Amino acid sequence: MPLIKQSSIRAVLDACDMLEIVSPYTQLKKTGVNYMGRCPFHNEKTPSFSVDPAQKLYYCFGCGEGGNAFTFVQKIEDAEFAEAVGSLADKYGVRLEFRQGSAGQEEKYRRRERVLSLLDQAATYYSRYLHDSGQAAPGRRYLKQRGFKEEVIRQYRLGFSSPAGQALSKAARAKGFSEEELSGAGLIIKKTGRVYDRFRSRLMFPFTDHRGRVLGFGARVLDDSKPKYLNSPDSDLYHKGSLVFGLGNARRDIIRQDKAIIVEGYTDVMALSQAGIKNVVASMGTALTGTQLREISRFTRNIYLAFDADAAGQKAMLRVQELARDLILSLWVIRMPPGQDPADMAMAPGGGDDFARLAAKAPTLLEYHVQETLSRHDLTSAAGRKKAFAALRKVIAGAADAVELDEQLRIIAGRLRLDVENVAYLIRTGSHSNTAGDEEGARRRVLTHQESNERSFLSLCLAYPGEARRHLQDMTDAYFTTERTRAAFLWVRETIEGQNGGSARAQTDVPAGAAASILPELQVRSKTSGELSPAALHELYFRLSEARISRRISVLKEELSRDDNNSESFKDLCRLEARRREIIELIQSGSYEV
Ligand code: UTP
Ligand code: MN
Repeated sequence: MPLIKQSSIRAVLDACDMLEIVSPYTQLKKTGVNYMGRCPFHNEKTPSFSVDPAQKLYYCFGCGEGGNAFTFVQKIEDAEFAEAVGSLADKYGVRLEFRQGSAGQEEKYRRRERVLSLLDQAATYYSRYLHDSGQAAPGRRYLKQRGFKEEVIRQYRLGFSSPAGQALSKAARAKGFSEEELSGAGLIIKKTGRVYDRFRSRLMFPFTDHRGRVLGFGARVLDDSKPKYLNSPDSDLYHKGSLVFGLGNARRDIIRQDKAIIVEGYTDVMALSQAGIKNVVASMGTALTGTQLREISRFTRNIYLAFDADAAGQKAMLRVQELARDLILSLWVIRMPPGQDPADMAMAPGGGDDFARLAAKAPTLLEYHVQETLSRHDLTSAAGRKKAFAALRKVIAGAADAVELDEQLRIIAGRLRLDVENVAYLIRTGSHSNTAGDEEGARRRVLTHQESNERSFLSLCLAYPGEARRHLQDMTDAYFTTERTRAAFLWVRETIEGQNGGSARAQTDVPAGAAASILPELQVRSKTSGELSPAALHELYFRLSEARISRRISVLKEELSRDDNNSESFKDLCRLEARRREIIELIQSGSYEV
């Protein structure tokens, strides 16, 4: 997208009428200075969505959505920021100006739009071919045999590619697309100087992004030849491992139910959708990636994994904990019966209900992890229990939820015949990293995720004082949630500011009080290279900011639930919600150049 000038953005915002923008989506009624209606972002019977026309803000007391005209359009139309600005500029007749030097970008943007249009038309072409051509009869027969109905076939825009060598490329050329564009879309291959369609005689599954735009294809053979699925090659638009299959169709249901189910295959997604379970997407094979998880986490933080009940599927689920560590997700595992994949189950009579029942009693990923690990070892022998303990140490180290962790530690202790406190201590510290000076000594409790972030941040400050200074200046001890991290923060900040002023105190000076219990650990960690980078420092700064804002939001919501006419608190809330979302997006984008 070309870069829009800040002055234009402001002009659009000035021209906006919040009531006019929101009204098509919900009926608003004036109550006091604000307007109330039923929230367009979640299902509700009584209105809790309010609009402040003067401030041009909205906020839902039910689901917490809030922001300004741009965020509203972004959310409701699922648009990017620049698109939202563009669409509102059109609506209010504001002429947009672009930053200088963005002509090249504009050109690139136009080329991209052409390739997108080609991919969309190709999907339509394959789909017509599937439905109309005599040559596609095997495709239709196959889908029928597998139990797929017309509706779901059309919804996912399935198609069939002609056995002829150049059917699609000829049709596209006739519509004015160039060979270069066909190649950019990944639709052709070149062999001995000639151009052929990449996909021939295959069932075509379009890959769409979360807005339903076609970015590539997966193409299945109908016999046993290999590869079973041939996918589009990586291109500017399509990267294997970043797209989530079915997100365009499932997005609304994922948001509405505030949970997503991840399966392995395209056919699993379609079969479940046909059985009435629509909040489903596919990782496209067992190798779920961090990028895919991040993409899904934009729409919900509650994720159910339903991979095939084979070794590869199980292994993949165990890897997810690692991938999800920084995303603040809640994860569950839907255990498929041996030999069945979700499509098999969904297609059987009553399969949708069976699947829903399995989902309802899904263990958390941590629980699953612990169960799997315990079941793999012989717990009747001391040697077996010792091995199980070693394996569990890794499992537990990645856990984020303190309450759940506590519960699992109890289970582990029971099965391994150990004392709970001991298990917690040993697993958390390992044998080598026992931190001297910890006042709680051997009885130290497992750290919460939050406190562990706070500690990591502080040790990174000591490692990168130059980079840390600007963050520390913006912070107060309210960013820290325990007495010892608050004290340590004050000590770290004073030390680093001292270094700057030349006066000062060395990092080796020993602090007193609560900070004394953790500073040695921070100082050691600040010199241990494994976890250190300035990017990690910035990320943690934003994570702590996000956590702090969340705490303030809870307090405000508390207040507002007692006194909902408090328009000052309401404005604060809108502002904080907007800021919080910005921070989350920043963390997800991973670029901290602000
Ligand atoms: P599966 O072999 O389980 O296929 O691979 P499936 O989707 O259940 O398909 P059917 O039911 O046999 O028709 C799961 C996923 O792994 C990816 C695809 O995304 C597939 O949906 N895959 C598998 C490939 O990309 N290439 C392959 O050769 C095989
Ligand atoms: Mn499968």
